[in-house]
Amino acid sequence: MKPSTLRTRTFTHLLPAHVEPWILEGTVTIVIDVLRATTTIAWALGSGAARVLPVLEPADATSLRDRLEGRERVILGGERMGVRIEGFHLGNSPRDYDADRVDGRTIVFTTTNGTRALAHARKARRVLAGSFACLSAVARVARSAAAEQTSDVHLLCAGTDGGVTLEDVLVAGALAERLSDDAPAGNDETLLALHAWRHVASAPGEQGERIARAMRDARGGVNLVQLGFERDIRDASIIDHVNACPELVTGQDGPALVAAREG
Ligand code: MLT
Repeated sequence: MKPSTLRTRTFTHLLPAHVEPWILEGTVTIVIDVLRATTTIAWALGSGAARVLPVLEPADATSLRDRLEGRERVILGGERMGVRIEGFHLGNSPRDYDADRVDGRTIVFTTTNGTRALAHARKARRVLAGSFACLSAVARVARSAAAEQTSDVHLLCAGTDGGVTLEDVLVAGALAERLSDDAPAGNDETLLALHAWRHVASAPGEQGERIARAMRDARGGVNLVQLGFERDIRDASIIDHVNACPELVTGQDGPALVAAREG
């Protein structure tokens, strides 16, 4: 057993506004926007996308695309008010990022809350993108990165339009549970997330359906149902659809999400 001074802890932040970026410095931070940005990123990488370049604004996306080599093959993806941005190829539905469309491609991506939360985590030593879609892979990479660096793990929920959202808290709880041997709860938000997740995980019925039911009632889920994207909630409820962990790295074209190297 490792000495207690070397044990890492798990801290949960229910919104980016709850944590100053400098607090994340040197840590392993997992950004969570399960409906839908971090789920869509996982599905895109799982479908063979070479990289996802997150930017804050639609205008940043088009100007970055214009500077990239092979720009005619670059895909613009993302949403505003939940729907595809005018002139963009794809919106923010995970299933749209299939191999036919994205295999080998660069995707320039902007969403309302998710890509902003990724930018908030920029000072962390390792930034991972968490969702049910890649739960095991993200937990695996976070565990080994935290052990290697003896650093804490921070779970950063994106929320929706400045408000806390249950769906991100559920993913935080599921990750905290998988990390808990190595990383005891660092704050009460982690305990809150664990309780919320265990409540959903122990309800009757098939697991994916239980998660979807809880997410449908949550703030982000209600928005998606209103927009006719209920299918995305079901897709975002599938655990381990992708066996790769999205990691934000610094590339020659700026921050890029790629599948983390393991082993
Ligand atoms: C976000 O960044 O908050 C999401 O992309 C919103 C959405 O999926 O519509």
